[in-house]
Amino acid sequence: MVLTPRLACIASLVPQGARLADIGTDHGKLPVSLLLAGRIAAAIGSDIGEGPLAHAARNAAEHGVSLSLRLAAGLDAVGPEECDTVSIAGMGGQTIAEILAAAPWCERGQHLLLLQPMTMVYELRQWLWAHGYAIARETLCREDRRQYVVLSVRGGAEKAELPLWRCVVSPALLQADGAKDYLRALFVKEKRALDGMERASAIDKARVGAQRRLVSEIQQALEGLQ
Ligand SMILES: C[S@@+](CC[C@H](N)C(=O)[O-])C[C@H]1O[C@@H](n2cnc3c(N)ncnc32)[C@H](O)[C@@H]1O
Repeated sequence: MVLTPRLACIASLVPQGARLADIGTDHGKLPVSLLLAGRIAAAIGSDIGEGPLAHAARNAAEHGVSLSLRLAAGLDAVGPEECDTVSIAGMGGQTIAEILAAAPWCERGQHLLLLQPMTMVYELRQWLWAHGYAIARETLCREDRRQYVVLSVRGGAEKAELPLWRCVVSPALLQADGAKDYLRALFVKEKRALDGMERASAIDKARVGAQRRLVSEIQQALEGLQ
């Protein structure tokens, strides 16, 4: 089974011999390919939708691997003792945070969480830090023209309330391969948004101020990487 670069990147971060719970598994390609490769000891595929779960069941059966399927929201049908690694990929950052909030056992630090938000990455970092999760690593990958970030996270850390502009960059992101390219693209996107806000006929001063701080944070991070 060939994984797309985004899913291959997440797969590469799953520890050898892991017991994986893949939340929002959809087609189930991530756990099925890891089971096929003998990389993991066991896998659960959970999804809120019956259609996606049936798709995962077909994929698992076609490849002759044993994938334990659960129809549920988030981690509702997964027990902490059943897995040591949780992947939540291909969803918005807010949905990922909501899934973790509903499963406080993730905060204890006994599980590695691999989180790949499609949107609201800053908000997800902000939520993670506020709830005592440490971002140990950020991994960047490119698929077609888009860059994705995968956060390797563990609970059990100190809680820190940070303003959003402080969550645009993280120490782990600065260590990632490709950080400079990623931040350059982010700078262009956020600067364009700032220019648009400044040109608007009705200027929202608070919003413009917040956006300026955010742009300046990215600029400083880029300067630090030169
Ligand atoms: C875009 S797919 C991502 C599939 C796969 N994880 C990936 O990264 O390619 C999103 C999947 O998440 C499921 N989903 C959305 N919200 C969910 C939730 N709260 N709990 C569980 N699954 C959810 C959807 O049904 C869908 O199958």
